[in-house]
Amino acid sequence: MARILLTGSTGYIGSHTAVALLEAGFDVVGLDNYSRSLNGVSRRIQEITGKNYAQYQVDLVDSEAMTNVLAHESGIDAVIHFAAFKAVGESSTHPLLYFRNNLGGQINLMQACDQFGITNLVFSSSCTVYGNPEQIPVTEDSPLLEPESPYGRTKAVGEALLRDWVKSNAAQQGKAKHVIALRYFNPAGAHPSARIGECTVGVPDNLIPYITQTALGKREKLTVFGNDYPTRDGTCLRDYIHVCDIAAAHVDAVNHLLNQGSLTAPWSVYNLGTGVGQTVLEIIQAFEAVNQIKLPWSFGPRRPGDVIAVYANNRKAVDELGWQIRYNLEDMMRSAWNWERMQAQDPLH
Ligand code: UFG
Repeated sequence: MARILLTGSTGYIGSHTAVALLEAGFDVVGLDNYSRSLNGVSRRIQEITGKNYAQYQVDLVDSEAMTNVLAHESGIDAVIHFAAFKAVGESSTHPLLYFRNNLGGQINLMQACDQFGITNLVFSSSCTVYGNPEQIPVTEDSPLLEPESPYGRTKAVGEALLRDWVKSNAAQQGKAKHVIALRYFNPAGAHPSARIGECTVGVPDNLIPYITQTALGKREKLTVFGNDYPTRDGTCLRDYIHVCDIAAAHVDAVNHLLNQGSLTAPWSVYNLGTGVGQTVLEIIQAFEAVNQIKLPWSFGPRRPGDVIAVYANNRKAVDELGWQIRYNLEDMMRSAWNWERMQAQDPLH
């Protein structure tokens, strides 16, 4: 049974991927510093799957702590690196926090991989690397534009560091390194059990948690940022993708790395989106229709730094990784709402 190390294992995408890997029969070792997630998530992962796994409180910036865990948990076949901060606004006010946490943590992880002979790595990247694209849908070959935020910079630089790192294959006589970067579009929804989902700290930045918290009455009203964009209804367009579909893509990526071995390119990139874009107003309508709830909302000014419209061409992930999308927009809206209600009744600690 292959052993997979997950950094950021109790975060939003990390926790859903932990469930998917355990259900697929993988052995999981999880690391998290719980700075943006809760320890209780690991209990929920075990509750959903009925399986135990090793979970450690470790900050990747503390390389000694990480090394100690890897010395104890030998035989890791692949790493999936989720651990990172992701609040776009916060990254603009605290860029160094983002550089230190996201890039410092990643460099320490690459160092640990070298030390322990771990050669397979999956990296959490983002469609933010495409900036405000001139042509949509974007393919993996679309130009990488200037990132909109320091957060986006850490993803673009994170990819660049890994591209150089895999090239060091040639300089080493050992096993060849392989890295897959997965560029997520807009993750949404929650596990069908409603036992894990997106844990937000304070006022949410992102659209879907803001909608569910407004529906719950925790927020008075949703503000739609801008109504004069050059899109079909004047609001921004995004590619929302169910978090469980994103999780499944990680299982596919790990299988690809482990089964294709030397046939895999040392460095490859895949878009994880549905291939369909929705505007903010369409998301509000979908949420209202599926959950039979009327949302209070009004238009406000544009949010600085927002991309106008982006959605994925996902053929590469479908064709090469065998990725299958199982959930639609209604599933995302229903599961996000079920999760928000479950959190109100039985909150995670
Ligand atoms: N929006 C609103 N009102 C809100 C929140 C969002 O109208 O209260 C709009 C935004 O203006 C945007 C759309 O909803 O048009 C989606 O916004 P999100 O904040 O949910 O997501 P973004 O597309 O802005 O994505 C950003 C980064 C990603 C990053 C993601 C998660 O670009 O790289 O946030 O943090 F991964």
